[in-house]
Order: sequence, then structure tokens, then C-alpha cells
Amino acid sequence: MTATFRYIHHACFTVTAQGETLICDPFLDGNPTGVTQQDLSVDYIFITHAHGDHLGCAYELAKQCDALIITTAEIAAQAEAKGCRAHAMHLGGTYQFPFGKVRVTPAFHGSGIAGGHACGFIVDFHGAKFYYAGDTALFSDMQLLQKLDSFRYALLPIGGNFTMDPKDAAKAAAFLKAPVVLPIHYNTWPVIAQDPVPFQREVEAAVPGTKVVLIQPGDTMEWD
Ligand code: NI
Ligand code: MN
Repeated sequence: MTATFRYIHHACFTVTAQGETLICDPFLDGNPTGVTQQDLSVDYIFITHAHGDHLGCAYELAKQCDALIITTAEIAAQAEAKGCRAHAMHLGGTYQFPFGKVRVTPAFHGSGIAGGHACGFIVDFHGAKFYYAGDTALFSDMQLLQKLDSFRYALLPIGGNFTMDPKDAAKAAAFLKAPVVLPIHYNTWPVIAQDPVPFQREVEAAVPGTKVVLIQPGDTMEWD
């Protein structure tokens, strides 16, 4: 199975496989690739939490494409109230979708919505398996995730200030033991400016079998 990963910017990316596309956290404002909502055609929209830099244009995009929103219960209820199709899940929950299994993982961060909780996802998308941490602090239970549902790619925030910084994210990479780590959620604004090269060097030295790939907005990558 192969899939095409495309990084838009910040924490927004798409994965395409078997003629279907998912997007995570569709925040497009200010993205240097120039991709607009109207350019996108997606089948599934994953939302980790309701902060503006993650919710983005999710509801408008869902209606434009008749896409299914997959998110936590509070955001799913809001999405349905706005006329979108949504599948509500929550922390620790797993569900078998037509494309494969999804696990909702905890993320230590604000939810951006009353009564909610931020999350991450482990997704098996037509055989391409990834963990997207969402916005989160480092937490030691990350070391369990690979054992619960294995994944090849881990997308981790390294920007600091709101999330893990490169030092904490390197510890996360050691917990996760993913063969490929992709740092995201940095350099979007001055407050989360980071140099990813020391992170890459530290992880590749400390975590045998892990390769860190530095992606730029607009980059695509073929995933196994
Ligand atoms: Ni956030
Ligand atoms: Mn964020």
C-alpha cells in the first residue's frame, strides 16, 4: 500500500490513498503554498481541537466536499449543528472505518470548546499508518501508543510555547519509536520559531531506527 502525504503548513496536511483523501486540521490562513479551501477535495476531515489554527475552515470545507468530519464529541456536535456530517469519537476510542482503524489519543492541551478535550489520532488510512499528536505537551504514556496500534509515521509539534519544544519532542520520539518522524507546528509565527536541525540530529542519534524528515509547506512524500 502506498499513500501520498502532502504538507500544507503548520499542522495541516493531506493523505491520499486508494482514490480517497483525508485532511487534518484544515487551517489554511497564511499558508505559503497558496492552497485555498476551493482547491481542496477531501473525503475525511480530522480535527484535533477547536483552536482556530486547527479548526480552520473545517465546517465550510466539509460542506463543500460533503466530507465526513472525524473528531471529539463536542466538536462533532457543533459540526452537525452547522449542517456537516460528523463521526463523534473520544479519547481512547477506536473505530473501524471503511479505510481502516482510527484511535483517538489523549493530547494535553486546551480543547477550544466547552466540555471538550484536545486529542491526537492514530490512523490506518488504506494501509498507511500514522500518528498525528495534535497540539500536546510531552506525556509518558506516549510510550504505549506504538504497542496499541502500530504506525510508521509520527507527526509531532516542536514549536514550543503552546506545545512541546524540540527537546521535549525528541523525548516523545524516543517514546513513540516511529520509523519516520515529521516535525510540524513551528515557524508559523515568531512565537513558535524553531530550528528543526538540532531536533533531527538529537533524535537520529538517540533513537535507533528513527529517521527525521524535515518537510516544508507544499512538500509531498510517498508513504509506505
Ligand atoms: Ni491549540
Ligand atoms: Mn496549534
